[in-house]
Amino acid sequence: MFENIDKEKLPKHVAIIMDGNGRWAKLRGLPRIYGHREGAKAVEKTIRIANNLGIEYLTVFAFSTENWQRPKEEVEAIMSLLVEYINTKVPKLIEENIKLKFMGRRDNLPDMILKTIEEGEEKTKHCDGMTFIVALNYSGKAEITDAVNKIISSGKKHITEKDFKNFLYLPDVPEPDLLIRTSGEQRISNFMLWQLAYTELYFTSTLWPDFDEEEFLKAIYDYQSRERRFGKVVSK
Ligand code: FPP
Repeated sequence: MFENIDKEKLPKHVAIIMDGNGRWAKLRGLPRIYGHREGAKAVEKTIRIANNLGIEYLTVFAFSTENWQRPKEEVEAIMSLLVEYINTKVPKLIEENIKLKFMGRRDNLPDMILKTIEEGEEKTKHCDGMTFIVALNYSGKAEITDAVNKIISSGKKHITEKDFKNFLYLPDVPEPDLLIRTSGEQRISNFMLWQLAYTELYFTSTLWPDFDEEEFLKAIYDYQSRERRFGKVVSK
């Protein structure tokens, strides 16, 4: 599969809606938390594959503003997986020159989580290889609303699309070229609503914990077969 990939036409930014952890566990008669644990392993593998391929930005949707409504034990399990991930994997990210960033509302995050993510960002801020972005306490509508409130506070009376981008959580990150969603659902689910305007969408029925190198390369290969017109006519 690797040999089929055109290194000159790689998506610069790949975003992923990691879906299907719960179903993966249920299929095995296990509690949902086991699915998230396997999901975290799939994240780890995906970072390596993306970095080896030469992808510049990889974003994963780890926890939405709506996910707080899940059972308390599940929320706590996902949060501790994230904390464990940051605490144990940051040295490896540094070794591989990967910058860690978080995207989402920070004001209502528990102190311990906030401290952990800020430390993760601080320790990897000098890395200038791939950027790995974790969307945490994130929703696209919340991001747009927060941007509008920042604009109001800045006193601006008029704004262009280009200016608007500067009020999003990560203004310097280019918009995703490719969005992958696993588990067969074909929805955006309030993810990066502004940034996905021209993103190529790829859906696979594979559940997130089973997402592997072959699946990732299939998505890239599919992306490379598409013609991106950005609303224009492309002459042949
Ligand atoms: C979606 O599956 C998965 C989530 C909402 C949580 C994703 C979180 C992790 C993989 C934890 C680790 C993250 C990092 C960045 C290390 P679901 O529970 O909605 O599955 P279902 O639709 O089958 O119920």
